[in-house]
Amino acid sequence: MSVHKETKRITTHTLQEMKDRGEKIAMLTAYDFSMATIVDDAGMDVILVGDSASNVMAGHETTLPITLDQMIYHASSVVRAAKRALVVVDLPFGSYQGNSKEALNSAIRIMKESGAHAVKLEGGAEVKESIERIVTAGIPVMGHLGLTPQSIYKFGTYTVRAKEEAEAQKLKDDVLVLQEAGCFSIVLEKIPAQLAATVSQSLRIPTIGIGAGSACDGQVLVVNDMIGLTKGFRPRFLRQYLDLYTEINGAIQSYIKDVKAVDFPNEKEQY
Ligand code: KIV
Repeated sequence: MSVHKETKRITTHTLQEMKDRGEKIAMLTAYDFSMATIVDDAGMDVILVGDSASNVMAGHETTLPITLDQMIYHASSVVRAAKRALVVVDLPFGSYQGNSKEALNSAIRIMKESGAHAVKLEGGAEVKESIERIVTAGIPVMGHLGLTPQSIYKFGTYTVRAKEEAEAQKLKDDVLVLQEAGCFSIVLEKIPAQLAATVSQSLRIPTIGIGAGSACDGQVLVVNDMIGLTKGFRPRFLRQYLDLYTEINGAIQSYIKDVKAVDFPNEKEQY
């Protein structure tokens, strides 16, 4: 039986209720209609159209090159597939850092042109005004702290963040600023599990962790990584549920062999 007939659309309020009753939130990325259909049908709570599309879909080294138009294209495809999940879309690098008006315009474009339900942006106190302006316009905002890949050239590496006391304290301050500014949830990426636990307890709103331990109110992974489509990417925080790269590669090699041997198509596969 389809999950859609039994279950109403997940909203930001549903996520708050889940935190309040101690139910964990499951979030996964998707960037296209086919994958989003599978993810939604499986019963995912939140689908993130992440700017990780820049890496896994377009083959860039960082998330910086992806554009607002490209994010809207991916988001529209996901929205057409998602019947139950809340669809959150990343504001890409360069579409909100200028000022709060630019941030609002970018968020409005995503909502209007893709039909998504919320936006996500990276940063702490420095993006407070932008968050407030977007929320005031009626658009739900998810924050993102810890390792923020759009600032990779500032950090220099993708290693764990906030291990030092000063950075940990800044993160503790920033989560409260984001909550106060109106964020409905905050992604915590690659920070010590103990810090994520403290922060999650200090907040009214749910945290979603990636490489941030089990005490977060929910978890997120990049779908291509968790099903093993991304070749050779095995960070410690990743649980890889399938090895699709090997499976698909094997299937394609079999197809090539069958074509060369004139084994495909056979009599039943032609008219
Ligand atoms: O872009 C993305 O996929 C993300 C997740 C890693 C949280 O921001």
